[in-house]
Amino acid sequence: MKKRVFSGIQPTGNIHIGNYLAAIKYWVASQAEFDSIFCIVDLHAITLPQEPNVLKSKIREVAGLLFAAGIDPKLSKVFVQSHIGAHAELTWILNCFTPIGWMQRMTQFKQKLQEQQEQVSVGLFDYPALMAADILLYDTDLVPVGEDQKQHVELTRDVAQRFNSIYGETFKLPEPLIPETGSRIMGLDDPTKKMSKSEASSGHAINLLDSPEAIRAKIMRATTDSLREVRFDENRPGIYNLLVIYELFTGLSRPDIEARFEGKGYADFKQELAEVIIDNLRPLQSRYREFTADPTYIDSLLAEGASRARPLAEKTLAIVKNKVGLG
Ligand code: AMP
Ligand code: TRP
Repeated sequence: MKKRVFSGIQPTGNIHIGNYLAAIKYWVASQAEFDSIFCIVDLHAITLPQEPNVLKSKIREVAGLLFAAGIDPKLSKVFVQSHIGAHAELTWILNCFTPIGWMQRMTQFKQKLQEQQEQVSVGLFDYPALMAADILLYDTDLVPVGEDQKQHVELTRDVAQRFNSIYGETFKLPEPLIPETGSRIMGLDDPTKKMSKSEASSGHAINLLDSPEAIRAKIMRATTDSLREVRFDENRPGIYNLLVIYELFTGLSRPDIEARFEGKGYADFKQELAEVIIDNLRPLQSRYREFTADPTYIDSLLAEGASRARPLAEKTLAIVKNKVGLG
């Protein structure tokens, strides 16, 4: 039996190279080894205000990008979270087994609470319970994510354990799968902040659909320091982040990369980095255009993905409802 992999991505903002290098790339690479399910989490997206038409088009855009990046719709199950009602239903049940104190400790919520000027919704607070439902519905073994999601996967394990201790073995305990390098790609304009989809500044992230000109401009403007040597040094976060991006796109070793830029300055390195990114994204971008030429095609793949995932989710939900005494 193959191990089950489950992961999710929000259809908001623009998908960037941080999403790609820490998550999507691994999802693609491990598809044959695992039984994989990838979910476009639109219910998570609405925990913050969204423009309805934009949200709808982003769902298709993310799906197109996943397929263009190499997720095979026959091998993996790819679907939209709101298409399977069991996600919302299990969330409610899990809410009733999650102490408020566990949720109050979530660092992502605390950060968003600080950032948001307007009132924050109960949905945003409850975001990790919805994520736990996503994962637990499918008897997931492994959850490949970036570093920022580790705490949410740990909470999922805690909630599952709590439920199991009350009702007996019900949920499988999932493990986070976090890459050693690149699990936290930083913003180009500010290498002390993680690259984020919701950041408005135009020089912050390289998006997967960026034009070559935009990529060159963003890389050349990326914040570094006043030193010259191109070396992997975590105390120099700007150049370090760019080097990690170079490392992950080329697959070269750190000593080889440092040797290659020995005696050269940041400008030479940045020029080459921009071309490496452009070359790596080119095939993905052209496949994206093919996939999205007929928008109904993406919709049909997503409908098929949901119809393959739904029976698994409904089976778990039925077991849980029975144990709790519902219905
Ligand atoms: P999200 O953008 O929140 O939908 O995240 C989708 C996936 O990308 C998750 O696995 C995140 O952990 C990962 N991710 C998001 N931002 C970054 C980043 N700056 N560096 C590495 N991984 C990231
Ligand atoms: N919260 C995740 C993020 O923002 C997305 C997500 C939702 C997810 N449900 C999930 C990731 C389940 C892994 C497993 O990145």
